[in-house]
Amino acid sequence: MSDQAKQQITAIFNKIADRYDNASMRYFPFVGDRLVELLQLRPGEKVLDVAAGTGAVTIAAAQAIAPGGRVQAIDLSEKMLDKAWHNLQRAGLENADFHVMDAESLDFRGTDFDAITCSFGIFFLPDMQAGLREWHRVLKPGGRLLFTTFSENAFQPLADQFRQALQDYGVEIPQQAWMRLTSQQECLDLLHDCGFQDPQLVTEQMGYHLNGPDDWWEIIMSSGFRGLLDQLTPEQQGRLRLAHLDDVKKLMTNKGLWLDVETLFVSGTRVT
Ligand SMILES: C[S@@+](CC[C@H](N)C(=O)[O-])C[C@H]1O[C@@H](n2cnc3c(N)ncnc32)[C@H](O)[C@@H]1O
Repeated sequence: MSDQAKQQITAIFNKIADRYDNASMRYFPFVGDRLVELLQLRPGEKVLDVAAGTGAVTIAAAQAIAPGGRVQAIDLSEKMLDKAWHNLQRAGLENADFHVMDAESLDFRGTDFDAITCSFGIFFLPDMQAGLREWHRVLKPGGRLLFTTFSENAFQPLADQFRQALQDYGVEIPQQAWMRLTSQQECLDLLHDCGFQDPQLVTEQMGYHLNGPDDWWEIIMSSGFRGLLDQLTPEQQGRLRLAHLDDVKKLMTNKGLWLDVETLFVSGTRVT
């Protein structure tokens, strides 16, 4: 991975780390819990949590593999990992270690792990195949991988409305990282091409109703959307916020504002 790409990702996640664990974005721990359930982790297992962030999966996994198991959690962002460490302490757990490490180039040498998890992280890798091959290398024969990615419906129609609002300000919108891997077939092809067998894919709706437009704004400010917004001056951001949230208000129902978080859970096994 180029140093520049790594620095950009590290900078954005270091910037949003303090506000990442907020109620509007509770889909991260929801998905973390579901991922661990699907993976059927067992006490005593050794788990590698790739792109661990603030520990949504790390903590669910650490709980599932106690006693005797241990999680190695890696991420490029030191600030996200600091948060993860605090979250682990708060959960009363000790069986995880945290390392600043690139998912495409692991410092682990042998075939150490019973299971590898990566929730909403794989699409940040410039070379997703290189990452998957690296993860395959450190899995024990019989070891399982489970990663998640968003489906193309996720965050719609809110995300398109936000992009339109940015375009009205002349902001150039590159393809966002998470939109690089939304197709079921591509996920399965990736597994196959990188040596994983017994591919499984389930799509589940992990969404819920937000209280209102301000909660959606909290998501924008605390996620990858923030990088797009930061191309505007603070004054422009203020004006965009008012106009965009006025539009978003029209989507409110008596249950609140629907947040679509359709998620693909993709798993495979290293056989030999
Ligand atoms: C959307 S967050 C997901 C965090 C966590 N897995 C969760 O579900 O809450 C993505 C994380 O991937 C990390 N990341 C991106 N590229 C990475 C890489 N090449 N190696 C390690 N971590 C990376 C970011 O720093 C960020 O913490």
